[in-house]
Amino acid sequence: MRNSGLRVILGTGGTIAGKASRPGDNVGYVAGQVKVEDLLAGVPALQGVPMEVEQVDQIDSKDMHLGVWQRLLARLAHHLARQDVSGVAVTHGTDTIEETAYLVHSVLRPSKPVVFTCAMRPATALVPDGPQNLLDAVTVAGHPQAQGVVVVCAGQVHAAEHVAKVHSYRTDAFDSGDAGPLASVEEGQLRWHHGAEGVSAQAPDNGLLGRLLQAEALPRVELVTSHAGADGGVVRAMLRAGASDASLWPQGIVVAATGNGTVHRDLAQALSEAMAQGVRVVRATRCARGRVIPDPANPIPDSAGLSPVKARLALALALLGP
Ligand code: SIN
Repeated sequence: MRNSGLRVILGTGGTIAGKASRPGDNVGYVAGQVKVEDLLAGVPALQGVPMEVEQVDQIDSKDMHLGVWQRLLARLAHHLARQDVSGVAVTHGTDTIEETAYLVHSVLRPSKPVVFTCAMRPATALVPDGPQNLLDAVTVAGHPQAQGVVVVCAGQVHAAEHVAKVHSYRTDAFDSGDAGPLASVEEGQLRWHHGAEGVSAQAPDNGLLGRLLQAEALPRVELVTSHAGADGGVVRAMLRAGASDASLWPQGIVVAATGNGTVHRDLAQALSEAMAQGVRVVRATRCARGRVIPDPANPIPDSAGLSPVKARLALALALLGP
């Protein structure tokens, strides 16, 4: 392996740590069963690589919640500050890996690599994809040119800002849309597609990290979709629920809009009623590719190219305060 330095491997669960009762069952399994140290022990090529291993959680990532994010962010902040650590790899379920990676990117903005990885098949599969993904992730975490938060899966390195799960079953389930992957991992070598500077690292926002670690809940930001027949009833129901129970008040709403950020006129009317009551509304596109082109004349701001689920997080972080 052409890399060096101590790597920390943090386990959070997912299919990569999943077990099926019937060997070879790729779908009837329980995620988050196998300890991350046991997953690593199953990859002979990692023997002798300097590593520290921690199990942060053991969760099916469809159930991801603030508590897991807080523990993960705290451990990442701790290890990234260590001079002897060259990078961190994190095992995670595929279902919300793009949300966790985007959150870590937004809050920690690390210059060292933080490499999320996953698997589409459980550890008990006839041909599991986890071991190769894990090897690739640890390789990237120690690579001298790697930086920032990325997702490594099926031999591709994706930037946290762009990556999305686009397939429900295939082992190459991830895509970076128009941006494309940053690099390929081929037999332990990285082949950069845009130059190694593809991931931007900035100074960490320690204030935001502190606020997030202390938060009891993220500001409530709901996601609604514009579609044929979208009459805004769901938005008005949210406002009614929030009027009788303050904890349900939607501080923000992201609308997964059609095409270039267009919204059904009846839903748009309900959203403007919400905005008049102080609710922050953002438009993202429900299209798998492309972005909402900025339009200063539109009263609802666009998501700056973020997908609906990432725009939801960005708005929740913005609402957490300066
Ligand atoms: C999960 O997201 O934890 C389960 C699904 C997967 O990892 O593919």
